[in-house]
Amino acid sequence: MSTDPTSMTRRTALAGACTLCAVAVTACATGQASQNGGGPVRVLRAEIDIGSATVFPEHRILVTQPSDGVYKAFSAVCTHQGCAVTDIDGDVAKCPCHGSKFRLTDGSVAKGPAQKPLPERIVSVEGNTLTIT
Ligand code: FES
Repeated sequence: MSTDPTSMTRRTALAGACTLCAVAVTACATGQASQNGGGPVRVLRAEIDIGSATVFPEHRILVTQPSDGVYKAFSAVCTHQGCAVTDIDGDVAKCPCHGSKFRLTDGSVAKGPAQKPLPERIVSVEGNTLTIT
């Protein structure tokens, strides 16, 4: 065993770095989605049912059609602690982590613990395609 005091410092630093790595891996394993603005996303209008929504987890967005021909899009990153909102249940989108629910019509909170609405994205319609920015 070394008696060099700088050796202990290196070991201590390495142990600290390993602890940080373990925390990062744990956060990733809980299904938390990162905030990601991303670029434009194109989806087909036919993928969105009237009065419902479709979640596109690969793009971290959900697209709704509250009434015939009216489309809205929201971030699918929960405003509580950042989990991915994955489920549509009637007129709400649900977060699986702590049970928050968001209205499909405007992204507002229908049930906490989330306090803020899902951030809205801009939807433009061209033919059969929706472009979300
Ligand atoms: S992260 Fe969605 S309810 Fe907590």
